[in-house]
Amino acid sequence: MDCLLRKERERTLSTQSNTKTFAFLKPEALQSRVAGEVLSRLEKKGFTIKQLRLYNISKKEAETLYAVHRGKPFFQELVDHVTSGPVVLMILEGSNAVEVLRRIIGATNPQSADPGTIRGDLSLSITANMIHASDSLENAKKESAIFFHDGI
Ligand code: CMP
Repeated sequence: MDCLLRKERERTLSTQSNTKTFAFLKPEALQSRVAGEVLSRLEKKGFTIKQLRLYNISKKEAETLYAVHRGKPFFQELVDHVTSGPVVLMILEGSNAVEVLRRIIGATNPQSADPGTIRGDLSLSITANMIHASDSLENAKKESAIFFHDGI
């Protein structure tokens, strides 16, 4: 029964139409020279890179991007971190893109992220957790619009 349910779920996911999502590699990806590895993982998983840009995020853009976290103890450190060096902005397309990307990235805190996930394999720091990805289609639209004129 479990097997039948799993197969049905896989069939449903594989027949869902392509959707887009927004993500960016944080400064440590370039600093530790794993940007290529992360992009390679995303492509191997089946995502299509629709937009890709090396970019220096301004403080204002970072505060807009992370507005939901304003007032939290880690907010300033987060803003300072993502503005500390170039990032790689991207729009990705794939089946059920938001959910699948979040799953292969792993838990927010790399110390509890599963091995095999990007954060689980490549980071130990919750602030420098290698990659940000939107957590909903609605947020992907909002976040991509900060950096890409045509959004997603
Ligand atoms: P990200 O996916 O970019 O979304 C918000 C970021 O806030 C998150 O990754 C972490 O880098 C950071 N973050 C979330 N929770 C904490 C926390 N408890 N302490 C420090 N940073 C956090």
